[in-house]
Amino acid sequence: MKYYIITGTSKGLGEALALELLSEGNYVIGISRSTSHQIDEVVRQKDSNWTHISWDISRMAGLASLMDAVFDVINLEEATYICLINNAGVVTPVKVIEKCKEEEIKEAFTINTLAPIFMTAKFIERLQTLKIDKHVVNISSGAGKNPYDGWSCYCSTKAAMDMFTRCVGKEQEKSDFPVRIISLAPGIIDTNMQGIIRAATEEEFSLVEKFIDYKKKGVLFAPTEAAKKILEVLEVMALSQGELLDIRDYI
Ligand SMILES: NC(=O)c1ccc[n+]([C@@H]2O[C@H](COP(=O)([O-])OP(=O)(O)OC[C@H]3O[C@@H](n4cnc5c(N)ncnc54)[C@H](OP(=O)(O)O)[C@@H]3O)[C@@H](O)[C@H]2O)c1
Repeated sequence: MKYYIITGTSKGLGEALALELLSEGNYVIGISRSTSHQIDEVVRQKDSNWTHISWDISRMAGLASLMDAVFDVINLEEATYICLINNAGVVTPVKVIEKCKEEEIKEAFTINTLAPIFMTAKFIERLQTLKIDKHVVNISSGAGKNPYDGWSCYCSTKAAMDMFTRCVGKEQEKSDFPVRIISLAPGIIDTNMQGIIRAATEEEFSLVEKFIDYKKKGVLFAPTEAAKKILEVLEVMALSQGELLDIRDYI
């Protein structure tokens, strides 16, 4: 059985990834605060290997228990592959840094960076000696490589995840049974997050018109399309270690 642990499965890219993987008969453990009606409907109609754990990953103190709950679901004896997809993310706060509140900054860094780093650490700790293929996929963004005004928190959380990926890749090169880790920018996808970006004022984010135009011109990826492409890239690049990939390079 192939197991996928995915954060942020209630909507957007995470939901699309979960639906795609469930349709292929994989076991998916989804983590988010709310649930996806679409996934609930699929699971209701067809017996699926799905467990949803309702969790707020901005609560750092509970993350060890979250990973215990995840590993309670996985049958390590029957697992042939285990993959952690750190997908949950927030683009907020979208405004110049001096206007960001302490709580908003903390939340962005916890959800986008600290929680996935901690979950990756627990994933590796649990699985290091298990002789099967194991993957960590960090859903990153072009914003981790390019600076944008109004996105200082978002860009720096993604840049941190990219460097984290490169460092852990180096660490895992030394392991006899390495966990492979990659960072993957998924392109611009038509999700709730894009709606939040388009709702910003020009004062908060000077490129807002450009993003409104992307939507008008229909250049955004549909979440299903992005999910399929990500899974294709994962298969083709199965042996990459510590690399920063962008799905637009594979289209
Ligand atoms: N959309 C784009 O154009 C784009 C471009 C580049 C990169 N990305 C990246 O792709 C990933 C997915 O983005 P998306 O566009 O699909 O966003 P989205 O539609 O806003 O979905 C975000 C997901 O993250 C979950 N989440 C947020 N805060 C959480 C928390 N505190 N605890 C648990 N789960 C939480 C949400 O679930 P709940 O609210 O139910 O908790 C939701 O399922 C993100 O990492 C994003 O940075 C997106």
